[in-house]
Amino acid sequence: MNIRLATPADLLGMQACNLQNLPENYSFRYYLYHFLTWPQLSYVAEDHKGRIVGYILAKMEEEPSDAPHGHVTSISVLRSYRRLGLAKKLMVMSQEAMATVYKAEYVSLHVRKSNRAALGLYKDALGFDVHDIEKKYYADGEDAYAMRLSLKTE
Ligand code: ACO
Repeated sequence: MNIRLATPADLLGMQACNLQNLPENYSFRYYLYHFLTWPQLSYVAEDHKGRIVGYILAKMEEEPSDAPHGHVTSISVLRSYRRLGLAKKLMVMSQEAMATVYKAEYVSLHVRKSNRAALGLYKDALGFDVHDIEKKYYADGEDAYAMRLSLKTE
């Protein structure tokens, strides 16, 4: 399994992976916006034939009212490739780029309260904390945990 920076040529493979794994889906344009604006932050995992089996789609939030921080728009790994450490690697690579390229002070994301696997990844494997609960954040009415991880090194 190989993990590398995503390019616009990966867009369809990432979108297909997202459609298989999550109910939160995005337009072609939204993927393209991520690649063009923050080309260093999104990564893919591919199998030996170059098929996309996992991805992280990430961006920066740079409002003047807040410290610069990265945001994970979406991450997923195809079912038969889970528990191999791919998602953790994708997260760490994107987080490192957020910190080094964009001087991000922290990384944020939203996750469903019921998503045990993702919560295991964020909390247990990576050290994220719950920053807030956003009521009815998802289209079906489920609440989200707004989570954060500091990227400061001191
Ligand atoms: N239950 C509990 N803990 C888990 C689970 C699980 N099912 N899966 C991963 N973890 C934790 C463990 O601590 C694991 O380490 P270990 O295997 O040594 O115990 C650690 O996370 C690292 O796991 P990875 O192998 O890197 O995770 P994986 O590649 O399997 O991907 C993911 C995890 C992305 C959550 C996957 O299950 C998935 O694609 N789920 C469906 C899509 C999804 O929910 N995406 C996240 C939505 S939120 C967002 O996109 C911001």
